[in-house]
Amino acid sequence: MKEHLNKTVQFLKERGFGTPEVGIILGTGLGQLTEAIEIEVEVSYNHIPYFPTATVEFHQGKFLFGTLSGKKVVVMQGRFHVYEGYSMQDVTYPVRIMEQLGIKTLLVSNAAGAINLNFKKGELMLIDDHINLQGTSPLAFKGVSQLGERFADMSAPYDLTINKKLKTIAKEKGIKLHEGVYVSVVGPQLETRAEYRMLKIIGADAVGMSTVPEVIVAKHLNLPVVAVSVLTDECDPDNLAPVNIKEIIAMAAKAEPQLVKLFSQLIKDL
Ligand code: HPA
Repeated sequence: MKEHLNKTVQFLKERGFGTPEVGIILGTGLGQLTEAIEIEVEVSYNHIPYFPTATVEFHQGKFLFGTLSGKKVVVMQGRFHVYEGYSMQDVTYPVRIMEQLGIKTLLVSNAAGAINLNFKKGELMLIDDHINLQGTSPLAFKGVSQLGERFADMSAPYDLTINKKLKTIAKEKGIKLHEGVYVSVVGPQLETRAEYRMLKIIGADAVGMSTVPEVIVAKHLNLPVVAVSVLTDECDPDNLAPVNIKEIIAMAAKAEPQLVKLFSQLIKDL
């Protein structure tokens, strides 16, 4: 993998990717942050050597480099999911690339369902901890220890200092920011009522199909990481309406301005 990583980084450098301080992963339906960025370069995932899609299939996502709140950032607009058929290593390959480009902090966002029914759709949740229900690990491969820590520490996966900053910013800006546990599932089907009940019992506040692999790789690389969920639907097993993906995406877009405010200010304060 090392050789591939070097070649991908070299390609991006040649395309004008400089040295970013912060990496940002934008989740499903969350593209508005890019409007606040002075973009210098953008490249479709399909054109990046050794990126998961480069030889397989079309992917809408792109990698951006530019300035946000006075800092150089690299942004993944759209991510890879296990439910698209990618391996955990594929899904997390771009995190390794961002780290090699030089980022010092990784900010992750996602759209998630609210399991904790005190949390409402359209609100944000700071991820304080997670449960991996995706069945495997992005670190479960031969040679992983040449790239970072195999037995990555998960005692506090989300950076406590930056989380504190996010909570302060939210308070100052009047943004409602819950705090809770995110559980990752494979998907792409949504959950059954029985599954929502189980997720609540095991301690989840929100459920989604991403983020956890990326956070595990960030920890393995010793990269401070924080993550925020945009809650797009309420997962009440006793009043469960059929899912409407369009509505989920629309809700993500509606809640996103709050996330943009939060991340933009955080980057200024980092
Ligand atoms: N389940 C899984 N993933 C999701 C959900 C959900 O209810 N909502 C948004 N992403």
